[in-house]
Amino acid sequence: MRLQGKVALVFGAGSIGSGVGNGRAMAMLFAREGASVIAVDRDLASAQETRNRIAAEGGVCEAERADVTVSADVLRVVEACIHRFGRIDVLVNNVGIAELGGPVELSEEKWDLVFDVNVKSMFLACKHVLPQMERQGSGSIINISSLASVRWAGVPYVSYGASKSAVNGFSRYVAMQYASKKIRVNTILPGLMNTPMIVEPLAKFYGDVDAMVAQRDAMCPTGKMGDAWDVAHAALYLACDDSRYVTGMELLVDGGLSQQVVTPARP
Ligand SMILES: NC(=O)c1ccc[n+]([C@@H]2O[C@H](COP(=O)([O-])OP(=O)(O)OC[C@H]3O[C@@H](n4cnc5c(N)ncnc54)[C@H](O)[C@@H]3O)[C@@H](O)[C@H]2O)c1
Repeated sequence: MRLQGKVALVFGAGSIGSGVGNGRAMAMLFAREGASVIAVDRDLASAQETRNRIAAEGGVCEAERADVTVSADVLRVVEACIHRFGRIDVLVNNVGIAELGGPVELSEEKWDLVFDVNVKSMFLACKHVLPQMERQGSGSIINISSLASVRWAGVPYVSYGASKSAVNGFSRYVAMQYASKKIRVNTILPGLMNTPMIVEPLAKFYGDVDAMVAQRDAMCPTGKMGDAWDVAHAALYLACDDSRYVTGMELLVDGGLSQQVVTPARP
């Protein structure tokens, strides 16, 4: 029960498809560890599915709808969390989208959308949550980036890679500004993870889902992709007091993929 008595606000706590993505896994694991969770998603039904799973395990969770690119939405949810639970100990910024394409193929609209969803969302969440954490004199913020922020992802993901690099820089700056206020900010860089998020955009690129899974498994030094629970366990460490002296860090959860000199070519 490492989060007993804590309140966690998780943006992107639903999941694309019916499985368990990173956001849903973090919300569920935090609740299992004693946290009261606010599960926020643009897709309310998906946030409610997360809430139902947590309630079925005896945990505490409320579901809220918000678009993370809309400041008023984010503020409303933050205020609802404070009204309901009185504090915010953990903020998770998990929402992220990917659009295939390099500078030539990608439209300006898609470029702006990816940056709004992946980066501005974190700016807005921090803008509205930091004053509460400052009043409390504590807090842990966890931003979900990607190995693609520091490495070529194997597919032309220029807006995704660039936006995730911005997440790393954003996190570092907020971490340093707030370190003396006992508010920690850390970033998780997942590698190749087998979550519902990758299926739709990447299956077409690789041919079909089975081919994609086989290819991505083969790229990993362990022979297998990670999954959402691997990200959730890393997030639990950063959320709880075990990591009280850890801030401004980029935690790779990639099964050693970033150490590999040569990535096997895709077909
Ligand atoms: N799966 C991987 O291989 C992998 C690898 C590296 C990083 N990541 C990162 O993990 C994060 C997502 O993981 P996941 O498995 O939870 O993905 P997911 O897509 O299943 O869940 C994210 C949730 O965000 C919601 N969402 C999308 N746009 C939104 C918006 N504008 N406002 C509010 N909610 C919105 C979706 O409805 C969805 O429920 C992303 O930041 C992604 O970049 C994933």
